[in-house]
Amino acid sequence: MSSLSLAGVTKRYGATTALTDVRLDIEDGEFFTLVGPSGCGKTTTLRTVAGFEDPTEGTVRFGDEDVAGLPPEDRDVGIVFQQYSLFPHMTVEENVAYGLRFTDREDGARVAELLDLVGLAGMRDRDPGELSGGQQQRVALARALAPSPDVLLLDEPMSALDARLRERLRREVRRIQRETGVTTLYVTHDQAEALAVSDRVAVMSEGRVEQVGTPREVYREPATRFVAEFVGENNVFDGTAAGDGVEVGDATFAVEGDTPSGEAVTLCVRPESMRVDAGANTLTGTVDYAEFLGEAVRVGLTWQDREVVVRVDAAGVDRLPETGESLTVGFDPESVVRLDATASDTT
Ligand SMILES: Nc1ncnc2c1ncn2[C@@H]1O[C@H](COP(=O)(O)OP(=O)(O)O)[C@@H](O)[C@H]1O
Ligand SMILES: [Mg+2]
Repeated sequence: MSSLSLAGVTKRYGATTALTDVRLDIEDGEFFTLVGPSGCGKTTTLRTVAGFEDPTEGTVRFGDEDVAGLPPEDRDVGIVFQQYSLFPHMTVEENVAYGLRFTDREDGARVAELLDLVGLAGMRDRDPGELSGGQQQRVALARALAPSPDVLLLDEPMSALDARLRERLRREVRRIQRETGVTTLYVTHDQAEALAVSDRVAVMSEGRVEQVGTPREVYREPATRFVAEFVGENNVFDGTAAGDGVEVGDATFAVEGDTPSGEAVTLCVRPESMRVDAGANTLTGTVDYAEFLGEAVRVGLTWQDREVVVRVDAAGVDRLPETGESLTVGFDPESVVRLDATASDTT
């Protein structure tokens, strides 16, 4: 096992800058996730850790060792990619044994142990073509873990699977990671998945790390507007501090904390913190849509040319509001997260 750190990592491909000054410190045994939209640099970061790419600037360390110039096979990493990468002409057992090719470990017992770990003990003689997508990814995981790597790298390993299977497999991956204790760098564009599985996450945008924190921290205390809007949903209001609150459009909202009058203030209110016909701060908008989601009802409003989203428990809703209807919603000062100009400038 090993900690993993990146310091000042920048990666350029010709005129394209894929990564800018990426700094990450991942602890030994941690399940750490890179999350961000497509093209933000997740795979490039992972490939740099694996040794498939050299950083243009900056260093990558496994524990205390600077791994610059070390080829992937000398880095003690196990990798699982998005696409099923099993050898179709080899059985499950042979695929897992392939993971041991650079080691002098005895195959049979180790392969059986790994198939047990990923819950596929009964499938050792099957061909990959006889397995479901989720089972194939478990074999890929067993193969990656076979040589007991210092670091496990997973690049969107579930994105080809359907939603329900993805949820099941992510719990399996987390269980296996806990059992093995392997330091894990996981990549996903799915923020809900990132929150569900990780010890900590790094939210990335356009080649930069916007924030590193526990799932709870990035959700509750987003450091930037990008994080506020990418992790979960948020209503973001740009306003101006006034004596008794924050002016947003024609409204003045009461908030916690003081800001000198005239300064720009950005307020974030989660859809689930908004209530219908209630709250110290209210706004009346026009309903664009109302969605029944089973456990919740989600309503989109237009208020003073802004889109506002409200999410309420479906149990309390007898009738969905209709498009074009006027609706008053509100929120309390303690549910506002402030993203002040000074806070978002620090990244
Ligand atoms: N080999 C490459 N040559 C040129 N540009 C690349 C290469 N690999 C990645 N990029 C660019 O770097 C950026 C980050 O890509 P990537 O790391 O694949 O993002 P993600 O995995 O988050 O979707 C993108 O703009 C992508 O087009
Ligand atoms: Mg990618």
